[in-house]
Amino acid sequence: MRLAVFSDIHGNLEALDLFIEHSRALDVDRYACLGDIVGYGPNPNECISEIRAMGKINVVMGNHEWACLNLSESSAFMNSMAYDAITWTSKHLTDDNRKYISGLGNKIEMGPFSFVHASAFQPYKWEYLNPGKSLRIMLCLHNSGTHTTFVGHTHRPMIVDSGGRQPLVDSGFEDGVSYLDESASKILVNPGSIGQPRDRIRKPCYAMVDTITNTITWHRLNNYDPKVTARKILDTDLPVECAYYLTS
Ligand SMILES: [Fe+2]
Repeated sequence: MRLAVFSDIHGNLEALDLFIEHSRALDVDRYACLGDIVGYGPNPNECISEIRAMGKINVVMGNHEWACLNLSESSAFMNSMAYDAITWTSKHLTDDNRKYISGLGNKIEMGPFSFVHASAFQPYKWEYLNPGKSLRIMLCLHNSGTHTTFVGHTHRPMIVDSGGRQPLVDSGFEDGVSYLDESASKILVNPGSIGQPRDRIRKPCYAMVDTITNTITWHRLNNYDPKVTARKILDTDLPVECAYYLTS
């Protein structure tokens, strides 16, 4: 089976369309979306609708979906720019899409894989599992019942094991990096972000899992041009920083 794992689309329809086109050309059998479909970007409804239409997909809730549904509580854990953006998003979400995201769970298990947005430990605390956060990573893997746990949230592609200090694969790489999984111990895998990459390459990124070859390969969408999305953001009432994030 070829499983495409992607996360943190953030209302970026141009990047999502490129991802769908790229992954389909690689004969993907199934998809897993790790949440944050919305937030920051100008097309939250269109992104939700496209993901709903993809079929053969597992989707978990991200903190931006949760914030859309819990606006008054979300200001406590979001910076003002993210909060202003999610307020705009919540206002523009259709009733049907609001109902869809409210039905998303925080964790899905499928064979040797778990899918969560932030952590399998206390998922609604939305903790960031960056390299060096050994305790958080250990708690996540301890609370995950599977060999491989996929998380998003940091927008940083990587693999780390339960030691947590030194990633086995770390961010900042170009297209096509592969990892052969022969490890008996649990691993944490982050596919990176489709709609708002934050590692220094700044190109949309996702992970393709091949269960026959036991490999995980990251793909960068090198032909993505952030200027189109940034222009659309500037034509809305979203904070201008949302456009700056993409183009800086
Ligand atoms: Fe995110």
